[in-house]
Amino acid sequence: MKNHKGPGCILVTGGAGFIGSHLCERLLQEGYRVVSFDNFNNFYDRSIKERNIESVRSQSTDGKFLSVYGDIRDKFHLFEVMERERPLCVIHLAAMAGVRPSLQDPLHYTDVNVVGTQLLLEACAGMKVRHFIFASSSSVYGNNSKVPFAETDCVDYPISPYAATKKAGELICYNYFHLHAMRIACLRFFTVYGPRQRPDLAIHKFARIIQSGQEISMYGDGESRRDYTYIDDCISGVMGALRWVVSEKGAPAAYEIVNLGESRMISLAEMIACIEKTLGKKARIKRLPLQPGDVERTYADISKARQLFGYAPATDFETGIGHFVDWLHSLEKAGAKTS
Ligand SMILES: NC(=O)c1ccc[n+]([C@@H]2O[C@H](COP(=O)([O-])OP(=O)(O)OC[C@H]3O[C@@H](n4cnc5c(N)ncnc54)[C@H](O)[C@@H]3O)[C@@H](O)[C@H]2O)c1
Repeated sequence: MKNHKGPGCILVTGGAGFIGSHLCERLLQEGYRVVSFDNFNNFYDRSIKERNIESVRSQSTDGKFLSVYGDIRDKFHLFEVMERERPLCVIHLAAMAGVRPSLQDPLHYTDVNVVGTQLLLEACAGMKVRHFIFASSSSVYGNNSKVPFAETDCVDYPISPYAATKKAGELICYNYFHLHAMRIACLRFFTVYGPRQRPDLAIHKFARIIQSGQEISMYGDGESRRDYTYIDDCISGVMGALRWVVSEKGAPAAYEIVNLGESRMISLAEMIACIEKTLGKKARIKRLPLQPGDVERTYADISKARQLFGYAPATDFETGIGHFVDWLHSLEKAGAKTS
């Protein structure tokens, strides 16, 4: 894999997942050599991740893509791959994702998201890989009362184990920037959606259930709000971050935390109404109390991303839901697994 010409090798942890597989595709389109490092865990059906990787592979006919089956907590394997590939940048997306499941197994979340992140940074420091991008989350803002959420807001009050692990990841990143002169961007993603979205996430779950005529569970009164980011916009933001971290040779060490959202709030009731309209089908709704760990709202101030990365999200929610539903229908038509 080593002697390719081009802008260099990017190691993407979690490359078989929702965001990771889209990112691998974009990187290949832009001429990078890409190594995905993923353990295909059973958080959701493994065959979905295999399908994601097949899709990435189909975009690369010139051997520029390698999928490595591996766990970021397997230090020996991780170091071996890093030493062999010597990536220009590591984009770290592998994680136990999801707020609610983190309440059931907080130790596992810490093990993967905190210990795993530190092992990866150790490998970077050991191999003199200076460029690193970390997938953080809007959940670090907890129930921040000020909107929109800015990177300078206090994030000392996470309300779920997942959020705490993401905040911990940001802190560990800072430490490696400081001690090893790395250039690091921590990106706070705001609910990402679109084709291949994780089946546990609300848009995917609701669309599937409404389509089947079954009842959806709506937590709270429908007034909780989210800033939803279409996958292509999220990926453009990550690519902007990549250009910023790698910049010119010998650029000074740097560390930035940056929001990536659409900067628009959609209520749960509006989200359901938009899916109903797109599917042409009414939802049957069971109302349940708000879940512990869920935040009331998320809303990104994206001025820093605009300024630093030239980030300019372009897909409004209605259009994005249209693309998502088209994708879901195409899977159903092909008889492929959706969850
Ligand atoms: N999707 C969102 O809305 C959202 C929002 C905020 C933050 N994030 C973060 O973005 C990243 C990607 O999220 P996603 O939605 O694509 O999730 P995903 O679950 O689809 O992808 C994560 C991938 O990481 C892999 N993985 C998990 N543990 C691993 C380990 N120990 N070693 C190697 N690989 C491992 C999984 O197999 C999976 O393919 C995660 O870090 C997540 O916390 C996502």
